[in-house]
Amino acid sequence: MDKFVIEGGVALRGEVEASVAKNSVLPLLAATLLTREPCRILDVPRLSDVGTMLTILRALGVECLHEEDGSVTTRVVDETKCEAPYKLVRTMRASICVLGPLLGRRRRARVSFPGGCVFGPRPIDLHLRGFRALGAELELEGGYIVGDARSLRGGEMYLGGPFGSTVTGTANVLMAAVLAEGTTLIDMAACEPEVQDVANFLVAMGADIRGIGTPTLEVHGVAELHGATYRPVPDRIEAGTFLAAAAITGGTVTVRKCRPDHLRAVTERLQAVGCRVKTGEDWVSCSRHARLQAADVTTLPYPGFPTDLQAQFMSVVCLADGVSVITEKVYPERFMHISELERMRSRIRKEGNCAIVHGTDWLSGAPVIASDLRASAALVLAGLVAEGKTTVRRIYHLDRGYERMERKLQHLGARIERVRDEDEGKGEDS
Ligand code: EPZ
Repeated sequence: MDKFVIEGGVALRGEVEASVAKNSVLPLLAATLLTREPCRILDVPRLSDVGTMLTILRALGVECLHEEDGSVTTRVVDETKCEAPYKLVRTMRASICVLGPLLGRRRRARVSFPGGCVFGPRPIDLHLRGFRALGAELELEGGYIVGDARSLRGGEMYLGGPFGSTVTGTANVLMAAVLAEGTTLIDMAACEPEVQDVANFLVAMGADIRGIGTPTLEVHGVAELHGATYRPVPDRIEAGTFLAAAAITGGTVTVRKCRPDHLRAVTERLQAVGCRVKTGEDWVSCSRHARLQAADVTTLPYPGFPTDLQAQFMSVVCLADGVSVITEKVYPERFMHISELERMRSRIRKEGNCAIVHGTDWLSGAPVIASDLRASAALVLAGLVAEGKTTVRRIYHLDRGYERMERKLQHLGARIERVRDEDEGKGEDS
C-alpha cells in the first residue's frame, strides 16, 4: 500500500486539467449493459473504481477494454449472466448501478446489497421504490437483491427521501425505465450534472427522455437501444479540490477543461473566504493573497454546495480568521476527517450534523490516516499548508476518485511524493 509524504508551505501555482467525472463514468459504464451494440466512453481516467466497474461488467458478460487513449470500449457478448457478486459490490457501492440496466434489458438481476460506508448508512430504499413503481418484483435473499422485471412497464414515482433525491438512484431507475413499455414519470429526480450525463448518454443510445436537468423526468420507453460514443462531463469535485488547494496554500491555480457552470456554489464560497475567482468558457482560476476569512457552508443537492467538497472546504476554513459552521445536509455523519485534522492542530467541534471550526493561524504536519475518498483529499490539502512533514496513509482511498493526484499537485509546485508504506498494517488500531 502507498502513502503520501508532503512537505507543507508551498503556495501552489499553475494550471491543471480536470479529468472526466468519476461519478458519471461509473453509471455510464453500467448503461452499456442496455445494448448488444458496442459503446465507447471517452477520456476515462484510470481510477480503481473504474477498474472495479469493468470487472463487474466482465462478470456480467461484457467484453470491455480501457484503451491506451483513455477510452473504454464495451460489447455485450453474453446476456445470460445477471449476478453482480458480493466480493465486487462490497468494494464499491456504485456497483448498485448495474441493477437498473439488468432489470431493463435482461428483466432479471441478482445484485449484492451494497453495505454502508465510513460516513454512515447508505440505504437504497429509493432505488427499490423506483423499480417497484415500474412493476419489478424485488426480494432480499441472503444479502442479495433478487429482481424479476418480466412485467416491467412505465410508472409514476417520487424519488425524494429525507435528504433530498438520490443521485445513483435516479440514474439506476432511468436505466430501467428507458426500456419499460409506456411512459414513466420520475418526480424529485436528482439534477446533478452526472445524472444529466447518464440521461444524455441514454438519449444518444436512442432513449426518449424529457426534462433532463430538472426534478421531473418523463421517459417514453423504447424497444431497443443502440450503441453510442460519449464523453462524460468534467469532474467538478476534482476541479473544486484543486481550486481549494489554491485557497489553502495562498497560491493561484487554474483548472482547465472544467465546467464553470457546475461549480457556481463552490466558487461562491471560495470568494466568501477571500479568494479571487475568475472564470472562462472551460476554465476557473482561484487565487488567494490575504488571510482566509471564516465562512459557513451547508451541503445540499445540486446546484447546492456539493457534499463531496465538504471535507476539502473544512480544511480550508481551518486556517480562516474566525469561526466557520459547516452543516452537512446530505450525509449527516460525513465527518471522519475531523479527528485527523485535529491531529494537525485544527480546532473543530462536531455538533450533530454540524462542525464548528475555530480558525487557527497554522497547522502542524503529522502522520494521518485516510478513511474515505474525500476525507483523504482534505488531509492532503491540509498537509500542503501544514508546517513540516505530513504523511497520509491508506492512499488507496484517494486513488478511487483522483487519477495520480500527486502528479497534478507536483506540477503545481507541491512537495509531495507517493511512497510505499512499509508499516501498513503493523500495530494498527483495530
Ligand atoms: C452519489 O452517491 C455519489 N456517488 C456520492 O459521491 C455523492 O456524495 C452523493 O451522490 C451525493 O451527491 C456516485 O455518484 C458514485 P444519494 P449516492 O443516493 O447516489 C440518502 C464520492 O465521494 N438515500 O444521492 O449513493 C443517502 O443516505 C461519492 O464521489 C436514501 O435515503 O448518494 C444520502 O443521505 C461519495 N435512500 C442522500 O440520500 C436511497 O435509496 C443522498 O444519497 C438513496 C439515498
